[in-house]
Amino acid sequence: MTANSMKLILVAGARPNFMKIAPLIRAIEKHNASPKTSQMNIDYILVHTGQHYDIEMSEAFFRDLEIPSPDINLEVGSASHTAQTAEIMKRFEKILLQEKPDVVMVVGDVNSTLACTLVASKIEYPGARSKTSNLHRRRPLIAHVEAGLRSFDRSMPEEINRLVTDALADLLFTPSPDGNENLKKEGIAESKIKLVGNIMIDTLLGNLQKARTRQTHKKLDVNEKEFAYVTLHRPSNVDDKSTLSTIMEHLDRLACEIPVVFPVHPRTKKMLANYAIACSNNNNLKLMDPIGYHDSICLVEHARFVLTDSGGLQEETTFFRTPCLTLRPNTERPITITEGSNMLTNPGSLWSDIEQLLNGPYQKGKIPGLWDGKTAERILQHLYAMT
Ligand code: UD1
Repeated sequence: MTANSMKLILVAGARPNFMKIAPLIRAIEKHNASPKTSQMNIDYILVHTGQHYDIEMSEAFFRDLEIPSPDINLEVGSASHTAQTAEIMKRFEKILLQEKPDVVMVVGDVNSTLACTLVASKIEYPGARSKTSNLHRRRPLIAHVEAGLRSFDRSMPEEINRLVTDALADLLFTPSPDGNENLKKEGIAESKIKLVGNIMIDTLLGNLQKARTRQTHKKLDVNEKEFAYVTLHRPSNVDDKSTLSTIMEHLDRLACEIPVVFPVHPRTKKMLANYAIACSNNNNLKLMDPIGYHDSICLVEHARFVLTDSGGLQEETTFFRTPCLTLRPNTERPITITEGSNMLTNPGSLWSDIEQLLNGPYQKGKIPGLWDGKTAERILQHLYAMT
């Protein structure tokens, strides 16, 4: 470590985080490999909280996106929100006291994001200064990537995570202008807010060729633009027996019209089993284990439409102009509706919305500004400028 270096801890914990850290690591390594005299070296430590731990929910993404193995794995595993958050906090505090980074960078809105932000905001380094660089701080600066998104629905655990993380962060990197507006309305100083674009699109563009070569739809024996791609995991859709049964009935019905490709998230799998919800034996309803990043991107590009409750898929469908039905009463990504190809649906209107998509015109939309693959670069430029 030289005096001209910044020590940064990058945190990831759950599946959607991995797509967001991959381009950041690539950009850091690129800058470190060709340091300009005026710029700092970034000495990063990758911390995996272990919130997701199944091979297909975690390790597969590190392998496919060529993310280096985590330097530290907190191995917290699954638990209630309180227990999981508390356990991450206890274990992350030890890491901060040991490493004393200048910056903690968190991404997205999962429990790991919230837990590590809370610890970083309250920690006090012994001696109250970082010995590892020329940045002298009592605690690390907290940088939040994907700041400012709001569903305005506090029954969603992610909304609580977003609100608290953004209230405590020192640098708020937003993906779209609505994020800036939301933060300003919450009284966050404009000087902390940086519109940098959508980091998910960095990963998408960097992996597009590889995703296309997967030809996943062909392997699944479904034709381009003649199948629906479905993902569902939100507690509001899968934790309630009658809601989940209704959704599964609609999927059975849809499978009589076109093939349905449905990789089942572990939470959804658990709930289907708990409620003993029988799935039809229609061969057109293709249930499978969670799939990897490239397969998923390939399916998004080639599907007739996507039915989902995932945030990332709302963005990826907008990028490809693939119609998307989001099975939620709201979205923290309104730009995918106002500019993209997304629309909201609910279990009651799901079938008529599906019919409309299958039979009528739909909004193809356009790719929002700054969804251009250069978000990680812009984030690093802001980090350099701030130090
Ligand atoms: C979490 C995030 C959510 C994100 C989603 C993506 C929070 C509050 N939620 O939801 O924002 O969209 O990840 O997947 O942080 N499980 C496994 N294997 C795993 C991980 C989980 O079997 O590797 C099962 C466990 O039974 C666990 C359940 O899935 O209890 C839920 O996992 P959890 O991390 O609590 O929330 P997700 O629903 O995955």
